[in-house]
Amino acid sequence: MLAGRRIVLGISGGVAAYKAAYLARLLVERGARVKPVMTQSAVEFLGPQTLAAITGEQPVVGLFGLDDVSPHTHLAQWADAIVIVPATAATLSRLANGLTEDALSATVLAAQCPVVAAPAMHTEMWEHPATTANVKRLEEFGYVLVSPEYGALAGGDEGVGRMAEPDTIVDLVDEILGGSGAMEGVRVLVNAGGTREAIDPVRYIGNRSSGKMGNAIAVSAANSGASVVLVTAAKPPDHPTIEVVAVESAQEMADAVWVRAGNVDVAVLAAAVADFRPVSSGDAKLRRAAGPPEIELEPTPDVLAGVANLVDRPFLVGFAAETGSLDEAVAKGQRKGVDLLVANDVARVGSGFGSQTNEVTIVFPDGHTTPWELADKTDIADRLWSLIGELMRDGDAR
Ligand SMILES: Cc1cc2nc3c(=O)[nH]c(=O)nc-3n(C[C@H](O)[C@H](O)[C@H](O)COP(=O)(O)O)c2cc1C
Repeated sequence: MLAGRRIVLGISGGVAAYKAAYLARLLVERGARVKPVMTQSAVEFLGPQTLAAITGEQPVVGLFGLDDVSPHTHLAQWADAIVIVPATAATLSRLANGLTEDALSATVLAAQCPVVAAPAMHTEMWEHPATTANVKRLEEFGYVLVSPEYGALAGGDEGVGRMAEPDTIVDLVDEILGGSGAMEGVRVLVNAGGTREAIDPVRYIGNRSSGKMGNAIAVSAANSGASVVLVTAAKPPDHPTIEVVAVESAQEMADAVWVRAGNVDVAVLAAAVADFRPVSSGDAKLRRAAGPPEIELEPTPDVLAGVANLVDRPFLVGFAAETGSLDEAVAKGQRKGVDLLVANDVARVGSGFGSQTNEVTIVFPDGHTTPWELADKTDIADRLWSLIGELMRDGDAR
């Protein structure tokens, strides 16, 4: 399954580079996120702007002079797979020998994900013992080489060396990544975003939650094959398999979550649900001329407690946004009886609302805590699912 998968698309300098643009389009159409990396020679054959327009990502061409201080390691850590299309004889040789003088080969050497390479070159180059030895070595590394086919070659020649068709390569990548559907058959409920409590038809009491953390959790589970329902008060991710239920108020959030929570295996409640709401919100807009209104508040339903109290409840993960000490989060975890609580200090730089990164502390049912370092929300989501999987397998947390 390619939806939501992160593909580093490597392009080296052969005529078949033009096919990389079409392959990028196929990956994007199947829902993958694609970051292109080009060798200097590849730029002679295919305009980086073409790839940028198709993928929405500016291709990385060199290792130096970029905003990113370590593009190769960041790309390698980000990728679910690296796909090299076309792989020239020179690039195969660099990869086989662990050379890293360009962004593509450095990224591959730094990566631990699957690597797929589609060689393309003249028959003599392909059949040369040096290339044969390099291909053998790369296969020993566990890389998947997509053999070139017989057909028309550059310069009017014909023979073996023509790159495999992009559709074939994309199907293969799909198959390789589809094998990792670790959450196949798991039913997941996630909530996200900040609720809005109406004061009048125009105004509301809200909070700063962007929904990014909950979205990342939903996407991570869906990408691993889980069936995911996302109840959200924020903008949902564009994902082909996630069922989205849009809500606005805490009451709507509670109703939508409670009616589904009994039918899932895991519920991760990452939404920032209002604690209080106006007792009444009139049908007409409050007027400035009438002076400052007195707004009486009442508690909203406790969504997390409602799920925790279900007789046959799912594995339950709560979130707690704090400002300053996390003591209250630890107390909340124990009071509410959740299986895991993810606490974060939303007042910290790079953590919490609106940010693409987060720094969380995991609170276990026995009160012990484990801080996780600052990381991208997508990485925190992946790590959280690994932890949930471990705990569910061990039965430790219940
Ligand atoms: C017109 C032209 C076409 C080329 N086509 C190929 C090719 O299909 N396969 C290949 O291995 N090298 C090909 N080369 C040679 C590579 O561009 C050259 O080896 C280059 O250094 C590869 O660098 P890279 O692997 O860093 O992209 C071609 C060169 C030219 C001038």
